[in-house]
Amino acid sequence: MSLLEPFRDLPVKTFETTWRSPANIAFVKYWGKKGHQIPANPSLSLTLKECVTQTKTTFTPSENLEVELFLGGDRKDAFGVKIKNYLHSLEAELPFIKNLHVKIDTSNTFPHGAGIASSASGLSAFALCFTDYLHAQSGQTDESLFFKRASFLSRLASGSACRSVYGGFVTWGESELADSTDEYAHPFEVHPELKYLRDSVLVISAEEKNVSSRAGHDRMKEHAFAQARFVQAKQNFTDTVVALKMGDMDRVGEILENEALSLHAMMMTSPESFTLLRPNTLAAIEMVRTFRRETNLPLYFTLDAGPNLHLIYPEVFRSKIQTFIQHELTPFVVRVIDDERGEGPVKC
Ligand code: PMV
Repeated sequence: MSLLEPFRDLPVKTFETTWRSPANIAFVKYWGKKGHQIPANPSLSLTLKECVTQTKTTFTPSENLEVELFLGGDRKDAFGVKIKNYLHSLEAELPFIKNLHVKIDTSNTFPHGAGIASSASGLSAFALCFTDYLHAQSGQTDESLFFKRASFLSRLASGSACRSVYGGFVTWGESELADSTDEYAHPFEVHPELKYLRDSVLVISAEEKNVSSRAGHDRMKEHAFAQARFVQAKQNFTDTVVALKMGDMDRVGEILENEALSLHAMMMTSPESFTLLRPNTLAAIEMVRTFRRETNLPLYFTLDAGPNLHLIYPEVFRSKIQTFIQHELTPFVVRVIDDERGEGPVKC
């Protein structure tokens, strides 16, 4: 039975709810799809704490589906159209959607223009509000099903958003793990020594990227290395799962960097090539490698679809590593966002 089946004949009523949902950083990347929002390989991420979106959504009855969206108090019609198209795509399963007026007031706690992808936090925050509407109208109270549905609905809006619905480490996509599925994400327990990882986000450039991740996923379709990349990602997923369970930070870090550079290699070698790395990204990578060689401390980097470096390390090394970041890396960055493992979304 579809996860949405119980809500097919829901009446339309007024309802307001607010959720705060975090961004996540992928250790094993989702890059390439094999169907409608179905990933070509399993992925694994760490949910963050400080980089979050807070969204208040008001649902009211209406003649037609209408969406109004305000970001930080300013009306943003382009984002409103995206949410409208997304809701429209769910109408076949949830026909009542065509009689909803949806007003969304959203804001990000991380500074605007920080170059942090806000689609995972933003779209999961909205999906949580919508799931809350579904459950409240139908009287459902099962919490585990609530988050499963919220993850499912987030995935249909933006793949990586489905992982933001849970705290800590999260997996998504069919793999050797029990209950794994392409439909929604699952939380993943790791060795106690790797539970509290930090993520110092080095903002190298806050400029808006010129190729969307949707377009990037599309370019994997005709990519000469696509099949090899999916095989590599599956192996990296399996190896990261084992290393996280064993508490082997160096192995986790080795794969983390391999994943980041493979993602950007795919971008640079795709049929229509594009490069999101900046000279200062490469300079900072070299500094991190040198620091690791000289100190033997487990400091590793990863990248999202952008030029900004996420520096990942266990909490116990925080003081030494943050001194290094302040003293050595400041010339390459416009800002550092000091983040860490977060425990997932909250209803406000
Ligand atoms: O969720 P999307 O469609 O924005 O794609 C996200 C892609 C990456 O952030 C680069 C990787 C990932 O797994 O989060």
